[in-house]
Amino acid sequence: MEPRAGEYAIRSEDILAAIEKHKDELALVMFSGVNYFTGQVFDMKTITANAQKHGIVVGFDLAHATGNIDLHLHEWGVDFAAWCSYKYLNSGPGSVAGAFVHEKHHKNTSLPIFAGWWGTDKTTL
Ligand SMILES: Cc1ncc(COP(=O)(O)O)c(C=O)c1O
Repeated sequence: MEPRAGEYAIRSEDILAAIEKHKDELALVMFSGVNYFTGQVFDMKTITANAQKHGIVVGFDLAHATGNIDLHLHEWGVDFAAWCSYKYLNSGPGSVAGAFVHEKHHKNTSLPIFAGWWGTDKTTL
């Protein structure tokens, strides 16, 4: 994805159009929450809804979003996300990273999950 000629931000409508255009060959939409260079905040809720209605998994790189903007990953239904803590959480080198996996996947036994994390019967957290 890139901005239209003469523009600096990527229009949401262009992101959604690209998903629609490629929906039959997309298994994953992996996008950033905030563009590191322009500061553009992407409409994660709408991107997620539009990809998932075609059965596409949605993940976000939140390196520049965590600690910077409001995030509602669970409410938005985002499948997964990852971030660091050394930017807007003001930690330092070697600090922990973060990962989010939506609760809806916790009991999905068709995924190759580490059962020990959720309970040996894969049905309890
Ligand atoms: C958008 C984005 N994603 C990922 C990374 C990599 O993060 P990490 O150093 O925690 O692997 C960075 C680091 O600058 C980043 O800006």
